[in-house]
Amino acid sequence: MRKPFIAGNWKMNTNSATAVALAAGLVKELESVETVDVAVCPPFVYLQSVAAALSASNIAMGAQDVYFEGNGAFTGEISCEMLKDCSCSYVILGHSERRHVIGETDELINKKLKAAIAGGLMPIFCVGELLEERDGGKTMEVVESQVRKGLEGLCEERIQAVTIAYEPVWAIGTGRTATPEQAQEVHAMIRGLLEKMFDKTIAESLRIQYGGSAKPGNTAELMAQPDVDGLLVGGASLKVDDFAQMVKTVA
Ligand code: 13P
Repeated sequence: MRKPFIAGNWKMNTNSATAVALAAGLVKELESVETVDVAVCPPFVYLQSVAAALSASNIAMGAQDVYFEGNGAFTGEISCEMLKDCSCSYVILGHSERRHVIGETDELINKKLKAAIAGGLMPIFCVGELLEERDGGKTMEVVESQVRKGLEGLCEERIQAVTIAYEPVWAIGTGRTATPEQAQEVHAMIRGLLEKMFDKTIAESLRIQYGGSAKPGNTAELMAQPDVDGLLVGGASLKVDDFAQMVKTVA
């Protein structure tokens, strides 16, 4: 049985006051939730103050990226050890905004994944097709390639730390959610691929989140799909009421 996992990706939003207020609001709303794993991923600069607000709660914290080197002359980058030091358990990797806005490649994402796991972080590894790729009938091919290249060289023991997030790029921040059937189709393909790449036990135990305009109103129908194990939430995770409602719907 896979425990549902709902994570909020705050992206480049909040400030020092609103980040802490958001975290504190969620702690209050979600204190009795035990059947769902919950995490929030604030901007780097607010990790420590959000960690303080989340302390003694059941809400975990993640970062939105990490660099693969341990330390040294990498101006502007952040290491796994720094994230652990700030109480992060998770790290989002391969997000479409990092792939398509910042220009990260599958190879770089693979290096980051390996470094994150070796450094004791649990990656939320994002994959997803562009609108023109979906319209061109290339969704499965694109997502399969991203999963294969991103997870290349990971042994069976290491892969257990990974959550995969399927985020169709055309659904991110657009209000246009994938239908539950569209999400399920890709999630099932990913699970089948994990069985081919690793084995059935791993394929059945790894959690696959859906992301892309997930909100309170579509949470139940998305989560009703057999291979949708959680949500990676952008915009709706910035509002205490919306995010808390989504978690409670799943719980
Ligand atoms: P939205 O929920 O705002 O569409 O963002 C999804 C996302 O990119 C989460 O990582």
